[in-house]
Amino acid sequence: MNPRRRSFASDNVAPAAPEIIAALSRVNTGTVHSYGDDPETRRLAALAQETFECELVIHPVATGTAANSLALASLVPPFGAVYCHELAHINTDECGAPEFFSGGAKLLTLGSPNGKLAAPQLAAPIAHAREMGVHHVLPAALSISQATEWGTVYRRDELTALAAAAHEHGLKVHMDGARFANAVAHLKCSPAEASWKCGVDALSFGATKNGALAAEAVIFFTPDLAREFELRRKRAGHLWSKMRFLSAQLNACFENELWLRHARQANAMAARLAEGLRKRGIALLQPVEANEVFAAFPAKLSAALRSQEFEFYDWPVPAGSSPAVRLVTAYDMVSDDVDALLAAIPASSA
Ligand SMILES: Cc1ncc(COP(=O)(O)O)c(C=O)c1O
Repeated sequence: MNPRRRSFASDNVAPAAPEIIAALSRVNTGTVHSYGDDPETRRLAALAQETFECELVIHPVATGTAANSLALASLVPPFGAVYCHELAHINTDECGAPEFFSGGAKLLTLGSPNGKLAAPQLAAPIAHAREMGVHHVLPAALSISQATEWGTVYRRDELTALAAAAHEHGLKVHMDGARFANAVAHLKCSPAEASWKCGVDALSFGATKNGALAAEAVIFFTPDLAREFELRRKRAGHLWSKMRFLSAQLNACFENELWLRHARQANAMAARLAEGLRKRGIALLQPVEANEVFAAFPAKLSAALRSQEFEFYDWPVPAGSSPAVRLVTAYDMVSDDVDALLAAIPASSA
């Protein structure tokens, strides 16, 4: 059996989609100018503007960490504060890259049980920062993950309120959209309605988890904010000389809405999995809104599934709670993959 079929470890374990490989193959011919001065990269700018229905600046990079940290570095000064959720990828999984690339900006974390931040949470920490003056880092940006690290999705009214509060406090709004496609698929709205129309200034647009080989993009909806980005990207070693290969992947995503079709499939598989787990009496820790399912799995069940080569991560929960796991679905999963996992879970597992 293909081991991927039993892996619910991450959306990163999936292969690149055939459309992406075809696009790479298609552009793998002849010579074109390097460093982004090529037809694919120009087409990307046009496709992104069409997709998001606005003027924007888009710059490809190869990893989500580069997208997030270089975007944030463009938004905040070295003495700036970036407010984010305590579980935000930028805080827990990027080895200090946002701090490093911004030249020392500080991430200040806020909590919530479901991965989302709410507008009223900003007032107190920002009032404190203002009161402390030069002794405190300067409030400069809010970074939110959409979908969140708990697999939940900010509704548009929540986003709008949060971004408005951030702007009132003089913060720029960054969205870590490693799973932006899954969020848009869940919200059933346009990409514009899920981003700049809610007040997002800069978006890390993820494609790798959604079928690309390695491609993400930083999108600035406020073009002024993009001024230094290209210098920062080069300095970080993230300016690909053969940029056509990054741009071709992103173009393949936008063409015929491949990115949304992929995300809808991943979300549908998560919904199917969640429903099947519920039927087996297994408690879910969060509403399943994107492509991640967090479930209370007794240790015996996890061991039994792993002995059948199913893969998933244990998820940290507060002391005293039942053990939990994270199950991630991906664009290439089909009902049989999900049903095979469900079939391996006895009805009396909870
Ligand atoms: C929320 C979030 N942001 C960003 C990333 C991108 O990380 P990477 O640098 O591994 O591409 C990930 C990947 O796991 C993620 O889950």
